[in-house]
Amino acid sequence: MNKPSTKIVEPDGKLGVLLPGMGAVATTFVAGVEAIKKGLAKPVGSVTQMGTIRLGKRTDNRSPLIKDFVPLAGLDDLVFGGWDIFEDSCFDAASNAGVLDRYLLEQIKPELEQTRPWPAVFDKQYVKKLDGTHVKSGGSKWDLMEKVREDIRNFKSSQNLSRMAMVWCGSTEIYMDPKDDIFKDLSAFENAMKQNHQSIAPSMLYAYAAIAEGVPYANGAPNLSVDFPAMVDFAKAQDVPIMGKDFKTGQTLMKTILAPGFKSRCLGLNGWFSTNILGNRDGEVLDDPESFKSKEVSKLGVLDYILQPEVYPDLYGDIHHKVRINYYPPRGDNKEGWDNIDIFGWLGYPMQIKIDFLCRDSILAAPIVLDLILFLDLASRSGMRGIQEWLSFYFKSPQAAAGLYPEHDIFIQLMKLKNTLRYLKGEELITHLGLEYYD
Ligand SMILES: NC(=O)c1ccc[n+]([C@@H]2O[C@H](COP(=O)([O-])OP(=O)(O)OC[C@H]3O[C@@H](n4cnc5c(N)ncnc54)[C@H](O)[C@@H]3O)[C@@H](O)[C@H]2O)c1
Repeated sequence: MNKPSTKIVEPDGKLGVLLPGMGAVATTFVAGVEAIKKGLAKPVGSVTQMGTIRLGKRTDNRSPLIKDFVPLAGLDDLVFGGWDIFEDSCFDAASNAGVLDRYLLEQIKPELEQTRPWPAVFDKQYVKKLDGTHVKSGGSKWDLMEKVREDIRNFKSSQNLSRMAMVWCGSTEIYMDPKDDIFKDLSAFENAMKQNHQSIAPSMLYAYAAIAEGVPYANGAPNLSVDFPAMVDFAKAQDVPIMGKDFKTGQTLMKTILAPGFKSRCLGLNGWFSTNILGNRDGEVLDDPESFKSKEVSKLGVLDYILQPEVYPDLYGDIHHKVRINYYPPRGDNKEGWDNIDIFGWLGYPMQIKIDFLCRDSILAAPIVLDLILFLDLASRSGMRGIQEWLSFYFKSPQAAAGLYPEHDIFIQLMKLKNTLRYLKGEELITHLGLEYYD
């Protein structure tokens, strides 16, 4: 099925990038963009910058770069702003995060020093391991949300921006039950903000402020943020695209690459034990059981949805799936993730696979932030609103319409992403049927 090309507004003018939380991921992203703009490095890992898209038949030889196919904002048009509970400039925060080497950072120091976070909306109750000094105070949660809206408007006018997009790169907040009544409808949620309801976490205030200002929003952490009916309704009413949650990097990325492979060959699975050592601030925050609970829920869902035990009881009906994160300071951002996977084959004979992934968390997450900013902006200019399921590709725990199970298989997610781009441009969707080549 293809349709006439959607009218996509051209990306004229500057695009403001709003980052609540300017820690390891956010500063690695900002520094990376500045380094790429100066020709010091390549945007490896970014589908918007390096990915191609096949158009038409396999014999047509049309595979443009995605950025040449759909009208995306250019890197030169990005202007960065954000909030943090620490006052450090983007340069100091990137130096402290210790992800990128000093030599690279020194070459982009003037650009990074220009970005200084605005005071954050923060409450220790939701991130127990942090103490912030650079924070907004006074009034109700509603009043604090209004202050975030003011920051957004000031950023837009002072930087002469034509559009903005926001990606939550803040710490993981404690687990919250999405079934709480205040999340069910917008007026209950708005009243709850005014009454300082304790189920309203800071990330929700940033998200509400963004949507109220017509700014698309994505959530890179596993806390609820926009993943409940009141916020979905609000985004639809405001014509704003939203998506979440939890960047798909590291171990879960591996899981969503491997599990569809096992299932495609009908290989069984008895168990998957995953453990990590991680020494950055994110690791420290996740050392708190309440923040870890948000992460655990997000990480555990993946296998069930991909392997469908109810459809394949003989292969996946009895899986032992465990995920552990251990805070271990010497490792810094260079996480090590071990997986022990117990699979079985023909006649039930068992086999094992061991993975030792020496990864770099923020190096894997930074290109995701870039792609989300550019695709959210594209969605907004294309008149798309509410949950952007085609961006599931980037998330551990993708949001989906009520009553719809989320799609976790990375290959299906990629096909969906590319078909959405084809659809927006009125190109034929690719089904891979291909019978015409054999007629
Ligand atoms: N790096 C990855 O691979 C990865 C993958 C999935 C999800 N995430 C999530 O992305 C988020 C960022 O990760 P990171 O490694 O950059 O962590 P980080 O600790 O380095 O950075 C988070 C920053 O958010 C700030 N912050 C906390 N609460 C805030 C608030 N209310 N307002 C403004 N700022 C606030 C902290 O001060 C800190 O600077 C975390 O929630 C993490 O779980 C990261």
